[in-house]
Amino acid sequence: MILSARRVGPDGRVFGLDFLEETLALAARNVEDAEVDNLVLLKGTIESIPLPADTVDVIISNCVINLSLNKPAVFAETARVLTPGGRLGISDVVAEDRLSPEERAERGGHSQCIASALSVSEYKELLDAVGLKDAEVVFTQEAADGLHAAIVRAHKPVDSTAAASECAPGGSCC
Ligand SMILES: C[S@@+](CC[C@H](N)C(=O)[O-])C[C@H]1O[C@@H](n2cnc3c(N)ncnc32)[C@H](O)[C@@H]1O
Repeated sequence: MILSARRVGPDGRVFGLDFLEETLALAARNVEDAEVDNLVLLKGTIESIPLPADTVDVIISNCVINLSLNKPAVFAETARVLTPGGRLGISDVVAEDRLSPEERAERGGHSQCIASALSVSEYKELLDAVGLKDAEVVFTQEAADGLHAAIVRAHKPVDSTAAASECAPGGSCC
């Protein structure tokens, strides 16, 4: 977050979102120590992001989406707040397609960021369902048998309004 705030420079702005008071308090101390003034901390959930539509150029996240029990809502919100042409680049725990939800749950508790991990195919399907394109999942490190730390990337098409209207009832892509 702080690195991003420095990277976007004085004309840019970074939002840090978390639903936990303790995490926000720690983040606030770090922001103060780092002396960055273009970073805004928001209390809220990734299932209901407290920002208007089409306002975020890049979404980054580390080991949060896998914790959500409502991933369709997370991706719907991701697509909503991204600007047309905006990008998602996150790290998460992702399962190989061969693992069933039960096998994922066996491999780790919820607190270890593993139990509710999506598979690669599920990730891509959910991103595609909300109109995010060119989704890729790249494994970086194995966390447990068949479960990996991964980088996930996708983007919102520049002409996302046109893409969405094509999918309206009676449209050609439904
Ligand atoms: C494993 S920690 C990762 C924290 C940080 N991203 C990092 O890399 O150190 C997960 C964080 O996500 C937050 N979190 C979990 N579920 C969330 C949700 N649905 N909405 C917002 N924040 C959430 C927790 O409060 C916690 O601060």
